[in-house]
This record gives sequence, C-alpha cells and structure tokens, in this order.
Amino acid sequence: MLSQYLYISTAPTLPCEEVEAILAASARNNTARGITGLLLFNGRNFLQLLEGEADEVAGLMETITADPRHAGVSVLDRRMIEVRTCPDWAMKRVMIAESIANRRDMLERDLPEGLDREVRKMIVNFAVLN
Ligand SMILES: Cc1cc2nc3c(=O)[nH]c(=O)nc-3n(C[C@H](O)[C@H](O)[C@H](O)COP(=O)(O)O)c2cc1C
Repeated sequence: MLSQYLYISTAPTLPCEEVEAILAASARNNTARGITGLLLFNGRNFLQLLEGEADEVAGLMETITADPRHAGVSVLDRRMIEVRTCPDWAMKRVMIAESIANRRDMLERDLPEGLDREVRKMIVNFAVLN
C-alpha cells in the first residue's frame, strides 16, 4: 500500500547549507527506501510531500518530526494512493519564484501532473504566501 503525506513546518533561522544537506540526505536515503516526493522552503517554512510504502513513510515522518532543524510539523494531508505522483523524484526541490506574479505559473509548470487537485491547491497556497 502506498501512502502520501503533505506537511508544513517552521525553521525561521535555518542556513541555506542545511537545506542542501537535507536534500543530500534525502537523495541518499529515499532511493534506498522507495520514498519519493518534493520539498519547498520559503526561507521560514518547509512544505514536503512524501510518498512510498506506508511503513517506510510513517517511519520517515517520525525521523523528520524529531529533527531539531525545524519545529511545528503539521500534517496537512495524509492519504493512501494507488500511483505515485512523483515517481522520478527521490526528493525534488521545488523553487519558489522571487516574483509573486510568477509563482503560480512556475508552480503550475513544476508540480507533477498526477497530484490530486486539493493537494495541489494546498501546495500552491503555501508557495504564494509571504
Ligand atoms: C524539512 C526536512 C525534510 C527532510 N526530508 C527527509 C527525507 O525526505 N529523507 C530523509 O532521509 N531525511 C529527510 N530529512 C532528514 C532527517 O530528519 C534525518 O536527518 C535524516 O534522515 C538522517 O539521515 P542519515 O541517517 O543518513 O544522516 C528531512 C529533514 C527536514 C528538516
């Protein structure tokens, strides 16, 4: 059974290098664990979509929740899925455009096609904020 989590968290003073380190660890570990997904960081908050075998995703959520580099992990959505929406992304960094005017267009281009409409809306809402 595949499960998918969408959560947000807070990391107001995290240096950029730490985001790079998180992505490097993700690339390493996620491939081995069959986890795929995407990560957005707006300088203060993370939003992450994780998908994979239910046990693997639940275990990773525990690890991530305990990670002291962020706080306030809040799950926005959790569902069982039949097909991965990000099959090719061990952990894709989705960039948030500087210009607010470009954000929606950029996301529409970068977010995967198979995302549920509600999930897509939550991601876009997060990214256009601030
Ligand atoms: C916002 C955020 C997202 C993370 N995402 C992942 C992830 O997708 N995969 C992963 O293995 N670790 C992720 N981590 C890091 C884990 O909390 C943990 O540090 C890491 O899995 C330890 O890996 P290591 O034992 O290989 O050093 C994330 C951490 C944060 C703060």
